Amino acid sequence: MSYVEVEYPKEKGAFYRMLAEQVALYTEGEPDQTAALSNASAVLACAFPGANWVGFYLAAEDSVLGNAGGPGELKLGPFQGKPAVTRIAYGRGVCGTAWRERRAQVVEEVSRFPGHIACDCDSRAELVIPLFREDGSFFGVLDMDSVIPGYFTEEDRDGLTAIVPLLLRA
Ligand code: SME
Repeated sequence: MSYVEVEYPKEKGAFYRMLAEQVALYTEGEPDQTAALSNASAVLACAFPGANWVGFYLAAEDSVLGNAGGPGELKLGPFQGKPAVTRIAYGRGVCGTAWRERRAQVVEEVSRFPGHIACDCDSRAELVIPLFREDGSFFGVLDMDSVIPGYFTEEDRDGLTAIVPLLLRA
């Protein structure tokens, strides 16, 4: 299927209705987790022109950071943007904090977030949404960065929180 450029409405309700349709269009019917997350990161990157990094960090079963036996760590999953840190320990950075607190983090200015892990040094704002399976177990996070301070809002948090469950395959 070739990608057809769409123009997203400015009004947030209509924007998120179209975004949900677009995510479904490019992921529905695809049982493979990596394929679904890869297309989702591409759809989100198209929908958020102010985002310089969009992707997923997934709960790792192995440990590179030496956290085996502890709460664990995240490993880099499908994304769009510059190369990034591949592992993040539980509770570290914005991503690890979203995991530990089991709630989304909307960061207006990353330099004011204690322990923020800089990947693309142009990033100023960040939104991290934790993903949970139906049984409540932790799957990973959606992570989005922007070069524009305050780019992500609570409406974005709520809109994306409603969409990301469509992406879980197991
Ligand atoms: N800033 C993130 C690290 C990942 S990059 O943004 C892609 C954090 O503090 O967890």
